[in-house]
Amino acid sequence: MPMIELRHLEKSVPLAGGRHWILRNVDLDIAEGEFVSVMGPSGAGKSSLLNVLGLMDHDWQGSFSFDGTAVEKLNPKQRQALQREKVGFIFQHYHLIDDLKVWENLDLPLQYRDVPAKERSAQVADLLDRFQIVGKKDLFPSQLSGGQQQLVAVARAVITKPRLLLADEPTGALHSSQARTIMDLLHELHRGGATIVQVTHNEAFGSEAQRVVRLSDGWIDGGGRSVP
Ligand SMILES: Nc1ncnc2c1ncn2[C@@H]1O[C@H](COP(=O)(O)OP(=O)(O)O)[C@@H](O)[C@H]1O
Ligand SMILES: [Mg+2]
Repeated sequence: MPMIELRHLEKSVPLAGGRHWILRNVDLDIAEGEFVSVMGPSGAGKSSLLNVLGLMDHDWQGSFSFDGTAVEKLNPKQRQALQREKVGFIFQHYHLIDDLKVWENLDLPLQYRDVPAKERSAQVADLLDRFQIVGKKDLFPSQLSGGQQQLVAVARAVITKPRLLLADEPTGALHSSQARTIMDLLHELHRGGATIVQVTHNEAFGSEAQRVVRLSDGWIDGGGRSVP
């Protein structure tokens, strides 16, 4: 059984006199441990697809099985619990909390999960060390470069050990050497067992994944279906 199985997934919003389609008849399987790139023109529905996969958006039709759980049957509380247990997000513009220090940004997802303080500080220290940002721990995000902010954002996304890591143009705002660092980190997390779906406009970075899913106008290219 694939980790993720979307069948006939559709998303649309009402538009004067009709509907505006965002995702159309999407059939997508993602296996446990896969590294997948989603590519396509601006407006193709890439972020919308990621938001569905990450259980951020529930306003869609069709079916979505995540580790055997039928997502369309969950209530909002169950969906949030599943998201907290299994999903980590990385965004193009980092989305760190500006008035929290680096270490506090990392601590927050653990607080949400009621991890005891002592364990939290050990895990934060471990990640600061692993990501080589110990020296930045008491700084605020605005005091870091874009590449450093994204390092913190990746650390925050993985501190809860999510099995599914979703990255929406994670290198889109970075210079090439910073972008390379982030890509190397994604590969390392992938080798560590994470399932990764990244949206990218960069063909070279896209092709570093095991599979590229191409979207246009909400359709998956080549018949609406992509499986490993
Ligand atoms: N909540 C929404 N309401 C209306 N239109 C939306 C909404 N979310 C996305 N869209 C539209 O859906 C299309 C796909 O958007 P998006 O998923 O952000 O594309 P991409 O990430 O590929 O650039 C775009 O035309 C966008 O304007
Ligand atoms: Mg987008």
